[in-house]
Amino acid sequence: MRAFSHLTADEIKERAEALGPWFHNIELNGVPTAPNHFLGDYPRIKWHSFADAIPKDLTGKSVLDIGCNGGFYSIEMKRRGAARVLGIDFDEDYLAQARFAAEVTGQDIEFRKLSVYDVGALEERFDIVLFMGVLYHLRHPLLALDLIHEHVARDLLVFQSMQRGSKEVVPVAENYPFWDAAHFDEPGYPKLHFVERRYADDPTNWWIPNRACAEAMLRSAGFEILSHPEDEVYVCRRVSGPENAAVYPARGSLT
Ligand SMILES: C[S@@+](CC[C@H](N)C(=O)[O-])C[C@H]1O[C@@H](n2cnc3c(N)ncnc32)[C@H](O)[C@@H]1O
Repeated sequence: MRAFSHLTADEIKERAEALGPWFHNIELNGVPTAPNHFLGDYPRIKWHSFADAIPKDLTGKSVLDIGCNGGFYSIEMKRRGAARVLGIDFDEDYLAQARFAAEVTGQDIEFRKLSVYDVGALEERFDIVLFMGVLYHLRHPLLALDLIHEHVARDLLVFQSMQRGSKEVVPVAENYPFWDAAHFDEPGYPKLHFVERRYADDPTNWWIPNRACAEAMLRSAGFEILSHPEDEVYVCRRVSGPENAAVYPARGSLT
């Protein structure tokens, strides 16, 4: 690993600016990468709201950070002592930021260009999978959760999604008769809102769940919710998927 610890603050600022714009505000030897982030000191403020819900000591553990962006969470996982951290993202610009941030902070982390839809190609399971802030950017969100369950999750899944709509959660019955349709209009029934055009000026926002739906999708993909430390964040354990769940082969095994 090349070390950039010899760089002066001015040099770090110059390199960070050249690699920008950044979504992750990461402090690199005193230089913030996204000081004017519209969400404030992001994702540090988010991290502080759930950091206590995951193990403080990750010694010997492996971590997969899906949609790692500028590497903020990958770096925090490594700082907790994880033996191996792999960050994946399908955006080369973000990966370049993540590599630079890891090098400046002296963390040995692997970053690879890979889509969540291709996690089967890793042929490896990880003790902790982070799937933060990616679900609503996908056209096929449940497929992604199914693939994570099928191929890479061994134990914990740390999940975050933007949510819109009601925060109410009504218990879902085992079954409903065909003529019974009133529950679909209940605010607390699981709902996934489709963004045909744009939301928040971001053309990559596609499906935004309400709270009930985020929880139902996790359960349906085979993740038991252990804790809900922050509005949008869930810590889950991989369990057997429901009997009727679809199983998708790794892309590489289709031939
Ligand atoms: C809102 S950012 C979240 C970044 C980080 N996980 C966090 O929570 O702060 C979404 C990230 O997901 C990545 N992403 C979107 N679709 C992806 C896909 N199909 N496979 C892998 N990464 C994806 C984007 O490039 C971006 O870095």
